[in-house]
Amino acid sequence: MRTASTSSLDILSATFHANPFSTLDRMRTAGPLVRQKLPIVGNTWLAVTYEASSALLKDHENFARDPGNAGSKTQERLLKILPSTVSVLATNMLGHDDPEHRRLRGLVDQAFQRRTIDTLKPMIANIADRLLDKLEGKTEVDLMSDFCRELPLSVICAMLGLPERDHHRFKNWLGGLKDAASIGAIIRAIPGIIKVVRYLRRVSRPGGGAAPDGLIGALCDAKIDGESMSEDELASMIFLLFAAGQETTTHLISGGLFALMSHEQQLLQMRSNPHLMPICVEECLRYVSPVQMTKPRFAVRDMTWQGRRYKRGDMFAAFLAAANSDPAKFDNPSDFDITRHPNPHLSFGTGVHFCLGFQLARAEAGIVFERIFARFPDMRLSAEPKWHKRLGIRAMASLPVHLAEMRGSRYPRRW
Ligand code: HEM
Repeated sequence: MRTASTSSLDILSATFHANPFSTLDRMRTAGPLVRQKLPIVGNTWLAVTYEASSALLKDHENFARDPGNAGSKTQERLLKILPSTVSVLATNMLGHDDPEHRRLRGLVDQAFQRRTIDTLKPMIANIADRLLDKLEGKTEVDLMSDFCRELPLSVICAMLGLPERDHHRFKNWLGGLKDAASIGAIIRAIPGIIKVVRYLRRVSRPGGGAAPDGLIGALCDAKIDGESMSEDELASMIFLLFAAGQETTTHLISGGLFALMSHEQQLLQMRSNPHLMPICVEECLRYVSPVQMTKPRFAVRDMTWQGRRYKRGDMFAAFLAAANSDPAKFDNPSDFDITRHPNPHLSFGTGVHFCLGFQLARAEAGIVFERIFARFPDMRLSAEPKWHKRLGIRAMASLPVHLAEMRGSRYPRRW
């Protein structure tokens, strides 16, 4: 079985994000596991084939999310030196293993199920329309700052039931988090995180300002065996929804728009056949792979796995972008094909930590793709987009477009 340490692999740079496929091919050739020294976290085994990524994420017996369950005290020590308002966030369910994870996921699932995605679609379309209204009359815009960043933030704020006047404050507070790829960036983000956590605690209390029919209200009401979330767990869950749902969806939308505008025939096909939208969104999820890499997993015991010996505490992550372009699973994986079906991509992960917001993200992308090209049918790229240097997220910094002529401002709604 091949395994490799490929220290020369560039998985952070803007150049990699602009065109990741050749590097992803090299990773898989060296796979199924490649060892990389990652910023902050250190030596990590990356699962780079579809099979190895999927096996890693589904194997909850051998791999833990919480390093404490694999004998490491590092996280525990780190939490002790962080301000308590920040360490509260470590109680979020993505960092836990079962049974703790199952309890928290059960509570948030209850809250999510109170409103189906179909009931949220008019709200999403409304927000998209309002943001597009602001673009009218302009010819050259940066879709990243003027649209793609705004939409998921406004949607999650509305879904939670936060007062509208507070939405812009979140953008500022959370702004520091979008490039947390270095210790310095994380330290700089701490003041913003503290403000968010304090605000969320305040607003979640009875009479604190959150709409009673929003997700915060539903999270407060959710109970399993008569037990609801603690105040800390609630703040941490809401923060997780922001952190997990905003950047990811922003980069699905911007990456998807870029892919569509760079493939004229595919765009024409999508526009002439609206029924293709759901599978077009799936292809954008696969092709863009906005979350390129999962959170780390830790080997809970010494073991042989995928043909190699590993030690308890060894760190792993699934490199989803490599799995999603594995020719063993997808024909012509570097082609953008909006009719690709089936499309079993791993962009939302798999196993018990499978993305909670997958339906919301799909709905947002579908609504945006439909409404933006209906409003600006001649929209085209006006320059190459710029990409962030980032680990694990395929993040665009700017998406300059020419909006061209406008054809009126109101369009019939399909959603
Ligand atoms: C394009 C958009 C999105 C992508 C690509 C994405 C991707 C992912 C991935 C890969 C994971 C698993 C991470 C791991 O196993 O380490 C995950 C988990 C999660 N996602 Fe998403 N996500 C997206 C949107 C959202 C949205 C909109 C929300 C919520 C509003 C959300 C909430 C979550 C939560 C709470 C988890 C943790 C689930 C758990 O631990 O049980 N995500 N997401």
